[in-house]
Amino acid sequence: MSDKKATLKVDGLDETIELPVYSGTLGPDVIDVGALTSRDMFTYDPGFVSTAACESKITYIDGGKGILLHRGYPIDQLAEHSDYLETCYLLLYGELPTAEQKETFVSTVKRHTMVHEQIRTFFNGFRRDAHPMAVMCGVVGALSAFYHDSLDISDEHHRQVAAFRLIAKMPTLAAMSYKFSIGQPFMYPDNNMGYAENFLHMMFGNPCEPSNVSPVLARAMDRIFLLHADHEQNASTSTVRLAGSSGANPFACIAAGIAALWGPSHGGANEAVLEMLEEIGDVSRIDEFVSRAKDKDDPFRLMGFGHRVYKNFDPRAKVMKEAADDVLAELGIENDPLLAIAKRLEQIALEDPYFIERKLYPNVDFYSGIILKAIGIPTSMFTVIFAVGRTVGWIAHWHEMISGSYRIGRPRQLYTGHTQRDFVALDKRS
Ligand code: SDX
Repeated sequence: MSDKKATLKVDGLDETIELPVYSGTLGPDVIDVGALTSRDMFTYDPGFVSTAACESKITYIDGGKGILLHRGYPIDQLAEHSDYLETCYLLLYGELPTAEQKETFVSTVKRHTMVHEQIRTFFNGFRRDAHPMAVMCGVVGALSAFYHDSLDISDEHHRQVAAFRLIAKMPTLAAMSYKFSIGQPFMYPDNNMGYAENFLHMMFGNPCEPSNVSPVLARAMDRIFLLHADHEQNASTSTVRLAGSSGANPFACIAAGIAALWGPSHGGANEAVLEMLEEIGDVSRIDEFVSRAKDKDDPFRLMGFGHRVYKNFDPRAKVMKEAADDVLAELGIENDPLLAIAKRLEQIALEDPYFIERKLYPNVDFYSGIILKAIGIPTSMFTVIFAVGRTVGWIAHWHEMISGSYRIGRPRQLYTGHTQRDFVALDKRS
């Protein structure tokens, strides 16, 4: 914090208002506007474009420079040298683990990969054609009905156990939502496998034959989880924080985050990107869709482009693009038509004044779908994959808030409705 001040002059007020200005270690200063309430005034910032809702030490984004740091470490270095569970440790505890710490963390996660057998029957309440995100919203929220020994948010041990349970069980539940949708038996986790390898085993394995997960695909899957692990105060993380601020249990908070992530403007974009590329169908139709994206009267947007914070390349998109090339090459998928459309679309959009003026660049969702499709993940599961990766970020932010001092989040409004008026009896209304 600093002793800097902002002085506000408001028409109609005799005196100016002095507001404290705080500086972080990186990024813009913030103005503490708490004093406005006593002047019977609120700030007004729909969509929280200019609002810092909290203090955090977990992730830093510089949208202008395309920088993403997790506890100070650049995302491209973590993507190259680290793995998902090590990044989970970093996000949760603030430091990279020693070899011993990592081994303990990984083995603890592995002890929580199974779900209560009763949850397996819980799935039977859904239609087989339910969207997997609808299933995940339901079953993750339902975890609070099973794990009563990790619901006391005031107990650090409960908070730790809930974190391990959520990180460990999300892949199991995600794979179950897929298996349920295709009528295949659920696969139990195999704790001899790595995190991503186990997920692919539960997704594509079957009880009739041994699993044979490609190390290349497991590495690509692990990197996708890592690239989605956290992203500061995005819509779903802010949802988790707001739900947590009421004292709701961690499973309920994560279920709220999953619901917020589902929207096509947020985590649902990866599914929408694939659908868009398939609708474009051929590079010859790209110009038609770019024109539609620029047409104010057309609701169509170029999915996977643009970002509230990044006004430069999303650093995750760069890593994802390289990974897409690697995975397709490893799989011998030459000239993937959708990747060809994606690359041409990116090239056209980046040269178009409309996108340049608005600083619209490919975001994390633009290439992730190409890799997921190459791995064999169905499009309907793309946002579920995002939710699996992001669970550690949601939990890290929830824990950072709950283990510190916090108040229930309760935004106000600019009211433009009716002033007070008296009730009109039914027979007097025209
Ligand atoms: C994620 O917050 C996070 O960190 C999210 C995320 C994470 O890791 O948690 O990074 C993950 O959600 C990535 C974003 C995925 N969503 C999409 O790819 C959907 C397509 N993108 C857009 O809907 C949009 O870019 C948003 C929602 C991502 C950002 O919206 P903003 O910041 O509210 O920007 P805006 O809607 O005000 O757009 C500014 C201008 C507008 O034009 P003008 O009115 O100024 O003329 O840019 C235009 C918009 O019409 N615009 C687009 C566009 N995105 C913005 N035009 C065409 N295609 C697009 N994709």
